[in-house]
Amino acid sequence: MDELLAAVSRMMVKHENFKTCAQSGFCNRNRAYADNALSTSKWAAPYSLDPASVRFDKGVLTGTISKKTTTNEIVRLPLTVAFYESGTARVTLDEEKRQKGDIELRHASKAKKQRYNEAEQWAIVGGTTISTGAATSKDAEKGTTKIVYGPASKFEAVIRHVPFGVEFKRDGETQIKLNDRGLLNMEHWRPKVDKPAPEKKEGDDEKKEGEEAMAAGSDKEMAEDESTWWDESFGGNTDSKPRGPESVALDIEFPGYEHVYGVAEHAGPLSLKETRGGDGKYSEPYRLYNSDVFEYEMDSPMTLYGAIPFMQAHKKDSTVGVFWLNAAETWVDITKATTSANPLSFGIGSSVTTQTHWISEAGLLDVFIFLGPKPQDVIGAYTELTGYTQLPQQFAIAYHQCRWNYVTDEDVRDVDRKFDKYKIPYDVIWLDIEYTEGKKYFTWDPMTFPDPLGMNKQLDEHERKLVAIIDPHIKNEGNYPIVEELKSKDLAVHNKDDTIYEGWCWPGSSYWIDCFSPKGREWWKGLFRYDKFKGTMKNVFIWNDMNEPSVFNGPETTMPKDNLHHDHWEHRDLHNINGMTLVNATYDALLARDKVEDKHHVRPFVLTRSFYSGSQRLGAMWTGDNQAAWPHLEASIPMLLSMGVSGFPFAGADVGGFFGNPSKELLTRWYQAGAFYPFFRGHAHIDTRRREPYLAGEPYTEIITQALRLRYALLPAWYTAFHEASVSGAPIIRPNYYVHPGDEKGFGIDDQFYLGSYGLLAKPVTKEGQEGQDIYLADKEKYYDYFDFWTYEGPGTVNVAAPLDTIPFLMQGGHIIPRRDRPRRSSGLMRYDPFTLVVVLGNSGDAEGTLYLDDGESFDFQDGGYLHRRFSYASSTSTLMSEDLAASTGKKTKEYLKQMEKVRVEKVIIVGAPAAWKGKGEVELSEEQGGKSSAARKVALDWHDKEEGKAAWAVVRDPGVQIGSGWKIAFP
Ligand code: NOJ
Repeated sequence: MDELLAAVSRMMVKHENFKTCAQSGFCNRNRAYADNALSTSKWAAPYSLDPASVRFDKGVLTGTISKKTTTNEIVRLPLTVAFYESGTARVTLDEEKRQKGDIELRHASKAKKQRYNEAEQWAIVGGTTISTGAATSKDAEKGTTKIVYGPASKFEAVIRHVPFGVEFKRDGETQIKLNDRGLLNMEHWRPKVDKPAPEKKEGDDEKKEGEEAMAAGSDKEMAEDESTWWDESFGGNTDSKPRGPESVALDIEFPGYEHVYGVAEHAGPLSLKETRGGDGKYSEPYRLYNSDVFEYEMDSPMTLYGAIPFMQAHKKDSTVGVFWLNAAETWVDITKATTSANPLSFGIGSSVTTQTHWISEAGLLDVFIFLGPKPQDVIGAYTELTGYTQLPQQFAIAYHQCRWNYVTDEDVRDVDRKFDKYKIPYDVIWLDIEYTEGKKYFTWDPMTFPDPLGMNKQLDEHERKLVAIIDPHIKNEGNYPIVEELKSKDLAVHNKDDTIYEGWCWPGSSYWIDCFSPKGREWWKGLFRYDKFKGTMKNVFIWNDMNEPSVFNGPETTMPKDNLHHDHWEHRDLHNINGMTLVNATYDALLARDKVEDKHHVRPFVLTRSFYSGSQRLGAMWTGDNQAAWPHLEASIPMLLSMGVSGFPFAGADVGGFFGNPSKELLTRWYQAGAFYPFFRGHAHIDTRRREPYLAGEPYTEIITQALRLRYALLPAWYTAFHEASVSGAPIIRPNYYVHPGDEKGFGIDDQFYLGSYGLLAKPVTKEGQEGQDIYLADKEKYYDYFDFWTYEGPGTVNVAAPLDTIPFLMQGGHIIPRRDRPRRSSGLMRYDPFTLVVVLGNSGDAEGTLYLDDGESFDFQDGGYLHRRFSYASSTSTLMSEDLAASTGKKTKEYLKQMEKVRVEKVIIVGAPAAWKGKGEVELSEEQGGKSSAARKVALDWHDKEEGKAAWAVVRDPGVQIGSGWKIAFP
C-alpha cells in the first residue's frame, strides 16, 4: 500500500461523536415500540378516529383521533387530511394540549409550547390548491371513510377508523398504507413525575449511554420506558428537553414495491438498503440530522450535511412517494417482506413489499402522499410543493476552480492567467475562508487581498466570476462592526436561557445569525450590498458553508437542541431547516444587491452544504468533505443521482477529492466524471498539494482539458436540461429506473446515468487501472459511442473500451443533441457562438431534441427573452425541421430574438445516416421568414461510409440557418 492509500484508509469517521439509534432516546423508544408491536400478536394500536368527529368539506377532511394511553387516559389529536388539485394528499396530525399551549415546561424554559408547525413556511411554495373534485364515497366499507380524488378520480384514500390507518389506492389497487403495522406513535405531553431511582444491578455501570432504554424497551409488557423522557446526555452535553418526550412516528408501507429511493443525503446506493440488520444490510436506520460529519464513510446510513425527507417507491411501471414534512432529527427504518405468491392477491409484478418506519423527535406529523404512476409524476408533484430549481446562470453550470485557499489576489490572477495559457476553459474561481481578515466575513485580509476589485475586474475581462465564502458564524471580537450589530440588534441564536449563544468555529469564539428571524434576514440582506461588502462587484457570488450549523464544541458538532431561535422555537424543532434559512437570506441578499444598483439584475448563485426540501430553489449543493480516494469517486455518482430524484438536481462533489492528494490517474478520472456532475467544481483541502489541471502534466492535462471541453461543448444540452428542471423538477442526470420505469433489471443501477432528455448515457470510470466499462442498455435500441460512433445494440450489457483518455459515453438512437464546438476560455464568451446539431438515428429512423436558450444571466427570460426550439427528423419525409416551442412571448422576446439572429447552425451531423444518401451530395434547405418559407437553397452533404463496427454518418456543413428561427432541411 503506498503512503497515500495508507493515509486515506487511516481516515475514518469518529463514530463515537455521533449517536446511534440506541443512543438517541426517541429513536430507541420508537424502535422498541415497533419491536413490541410486531412481536405481539394481540397488539392493539391505541389510536382511533372518532367517526362522529369526521367532517369533509371542500376537499379537506377533519376529525379527532383519540390516543388511549397505557394508563387509559384519552389524548386528543386533531387530524386533517387535505386533497390537492395536483392529486397530492396530505395527512396532518397535531396534539390538542400542546396546540393550546396547555402544558408546563421544565427548567423555567422559555421555549414555545406548540409542536413546530412552521416547516411548511420554509419548504412549501405551491401546489396546495384544494381539490374541488375530491368527494366522500358512499360505498365505503363499515368502519371506514373513503375519499375519491385525483386526476380522473382514479385515487382513493380509505381511512380506517379503528385503529386509525389510511390506505391510498390508484385504480383500485393499494399503493401506500399508513399505520398498517400500528407503529403510529405521537408521544403526548405529560408532567414529569419523580419516581424513586431504580435499584442498581450488577453490571449496570458498564452499559453505554442509551443501552438501558434498549433493554427496557424490549419488554413485551411495554410498561413505558421513561429513562430517556427527560434530560438526556451524550458526549458530555446534556439536553434539558423542557417539553419531555414528544416524538412522532409512523409506519408507511409500499405493498408490492421492492425499491425505494430518496431520504438524501447519505453515502450509499441509490436503491435504499434494509436497516434492521442481516447480511449486507444496515443495522442502523437512515438518519436525517444535518451534521458536519468529518471524514464520512462510504455505504452508510449515517447522517450527512443535508436532509430531504422525501421517498419514492418503485416497481415495474409504477412509482409512488411520500414526503415527511418535519424539520427535527429524523430516523427512517426500512425493511422488506417477501409475500408468498397468493393467487388471490392483486400484487402482480413483485412479491416484495417495502415497509418503512419514520421517527422524528418533535413537531407535527405531516405527510404528503404521491400516487404517480410515473417517476416524473411523483418528483413533479413533490417539486410543485417544494419548488423547482432556479434556472441558474450559465456560468454556474460550467467549470468552477476552487481550493482552500487561493492565498492572495495575485495568486488568483495568476491561476486565471495559467488557465488561459494552457487553453483550459473555466468560469469561476473560488475563495475559501482565508481571504478574510482573521475569519471575519465581509472583510478582506489587507495583507493578502489588497486589491479585490482589481482581481475581480481581471476575471471579468473574460466573463469569469468569483465565488467567496460567507459562513453563518460571526467572530466574537472587538472592533468588528458586523458582530457589534449582530449583538446590539439581538439577531443571533440564543441559549436555552435566552441569552446570546456562543460557540466555536473557524474564527474561534463565535455567534450565529438566526435567519429564522425576519429582522435577522433583513439585516443579512444589507450586508452584501456593494457599498457594504467592499471589494465585491457584479461578478461576485456566494458560498454558504458550515450551515448545518457546524459548531466545533457543540453536541454532535452542532448546536444544542435546547437553544432558542426566533419566536422561541427550540433548535430541536427546526434543526434540519436551519441551513436553508441562511441560503434563503443570502439568495435574497444577492437579488437585493443588484436590484438596488441595476435594472438588468443577474440571477443569484449560492452554493450550500446544508439543505432541506426546498433548498433546490436557491442554488447548488455539494457533498461536502470527501476524500481523494477511488471509493469516494465511485460513491459520488449514486449520491448525485439520489439528489436528482429528490428534487435537488443542482448537485456536485469535490472533483479530485477534498482530503488527501489524488494520483494523476484518479484526478483525471475524477474530471471525466465531474464533467457530468450538474455542479462541476474542483476543490481541495488546505493541506493538499496544488492540483490545478495544468499542473498535472501530460498526458493528464490534455485529457482533463478534453473532459472540460466536452462539458463546454454540451452546455446547450446541460442548460436545456436545467431549464426542464426549473419548470418540472426533472432530474438533470437520470438513473435507469427513471428513464426506463418498466425495466426491472435496471432498478438498482446507480453507476451510469442519462443526461437530461437527450439519450446521452454516461458511465464514468471510477476504478483504478480500469480500461473497459460494462454499460447496461435497457432497451432494444441502437446506441453509438459519442466520440467515434461505434455502434451497440440493446438490450443487454455491452463493453466499451475505456483507456485513460476515454469516457464511456453513448448516444441512444432517436435524439437530436445541440452543441457548441468552438473551444473558448469561458462560457460567457460562447454567447454568440454557432451550434452543431447531432441527429442520432435509431431503429425507428426518427429523432428529436430540444434547445432552450436565453442570455444566461438575467431574469429577462421571465419576460419572454428566450428561445425554445424543437428539432425533429422524420424518416418518412427525410426532413429535419426546427419549430418554435416557446410557451409565451413577452416584452423581451423581440429584442432577444433579434440579438440571436446572427447565431447560426454551423454543422448538422447525422449519425447512423441511411445508406441511400451515399453519393447524393446535397440537401435542400428553406427558412421561415415573416411567416413564409424562403426559396429553397442547396447545400452540400458530406458522406462518411460505415467502417467496421462504426455507423455511417453524414454532415451538412454550414447550412447557415439561424438557431432561433424556423427552417427545414430536406435530405435526399
Ligand atoms: C468545510 C467545507 O466542507 C470545505 O469545503 C471548506 O474548504 C472548509 N469548510 C473551509 O471553509
